[in-house]
Amino acid sequence: MSIADHNLVNDGLDSYWMPFTANRKFKADPRFIVSARGMYYTDSEGNQVLDGSAGLWCVNAGHYRPQINEAIRAQLEELDFAHSFNAGHPHAFNFANRLVRHFPDPLNHVFFTNSGSESVDTALKIALAYHKARGDGSRQRLIGREKGYHGMGFGGVSVGGLVKNRSTFGMLLPGTDHIRHTLDIERNAFSAGLPVHGAELADDLLRLVDLHGADNIAAVIVEPVAGAAGVILPPQGYLQRLREICTEHGILLIFDEVITGFGRLGASCAAQRFGVVPDIMTTAKGITNATVPMGAVFVTEEIYQTFMAVETPGVELNHGYTYSGHPLACAAGMATLDIYESEGLLDRGSELDELWINEAMKLRDLPGVIDIRCHALIGAIELRPRAGEPMQRGVEVGKRCYELGLWARNIGDIIVLSPPLIISEAEIKQIFSVIAQAISDIPE
Ligand SMILES: Cc1ncc(COP(=O)(O)O)c(C=O)c1O
Repeated sequence: MSIADHNLVNDGLDSYWMPFTANRKFKADPRFIVSARGMYYTDSEGNQVLDGSAGLWCVNAGHYRPQINEAIRAQLEELDFAHSFNAGHPHAFNFANRLVRHFPDPLNHVFFTNSGSESVDTALKIALAYHKARGDGSRQRLIGREKGYHGMGFGGVSVGGLVKNRSTFGMLLPGTDHIRHTLDIERNAFSAGLPVHGAELADDLLRLVDLHGADNIAAVIVEPVAGAAGVILPPQGYLQRLREICTEHGILLIFDEVITGFGRLGASCAAQRFGVVPDIMTTAKGITNATVPMGAVFVTEEIYQTFMAVETPGVELNHGYTYSGHPLACAAGMATLDIYESEGLLDRGSELDELWINEAMKLRDLPGVIDIRCHALIGAIELRPRAGEPMQRGVEVGKRCYELGLWARNIGDIIVLSPPLIISEAEIKQIFSVIAQAISDIPE
């Protein structure tokens, strides 16, 4: 099949209902990606485009890693599948043992899922079940944060705070509430690194404690760095304050690290980078470098031991998925960890942080740039919406970037960046010079 061949799909595009896509628009003018290597995709017209998003924040070690491919192949030859319900295969145990060494104590136990959304629902359920197991079953409220994204399961949408994801799906879960978001462009625009203002916004949780009573609140879930809302960095001291309030009131703190886990912030996870350890942490995406779907929920020693101490014999948590700990995912995950370890990728964002921020900040005086938010290897450039046409400028700048050889996602008028962690210094400069060119080319 030639990559220049436009007729890659037989019998039209209609059968496939594409996720999170303007199907009619895409199908009227489709664009196919046909291969990927390292930092680059190749599309069906033979264009090479630099992957500015590591897929969807997930291909952290870059595309096409023979070591991972080989591990998956070898695993298929040995054991294609075995379930984990009252049964076991060694790979899930081995992978869990290796994973926990990368994350802060006491997050020493892992529950496997198949996606970020499943990790979030699992975390919320563990929180509810934990309180019940301790005889504290009135703690049932789940608190999220405005502008939060926690996947598309009913639990995740209910604690999520993005109106477009919530407004279509009825009443969602009862008993959820939200603290205020921390995006404050007026006070924090162009902060290089974590914003200075806004730690006090963590106290908004106290408002909900006053409203509902702490003894009715099970958990609060936040992304340490919000991604899908257009990269919102935590104000300095904010996460520490949230931790204090949760501890003081017996509320479990859940960090949704589905995008921040596995090196995005220059450490294994945000908890490590920011020195704030949650009670439960959700991950997915980079865990297998996106080759085989997988997620993992980490819980503290205390939470795990609470379940192991319940008096009733039998299953301690009636929850799990057919593919929890799938052997292929475990094999892919182990090979991915080998690469992260041998190439030092989990820390690489810290080394590149200064260059990343400096290059990004060069765009601050371009027309209509109203904020730049950057940290380690995550970033966002927010554009002033065009009068009467919100989001249009972002779409056009994103399209222009693609023409110039960079696939940079736009979320509305925000250009978001999360390249593979193998990115070179020259490629970082290239990313920002392409975006600068695109912003200059597209009218305000
Ligand atoms: C913070 C966060 N949580 C959960 C999810 C959902 O992950 P998935 O799409 O694998 O279900 C995402 C996806 O981007 C995410 O960014």
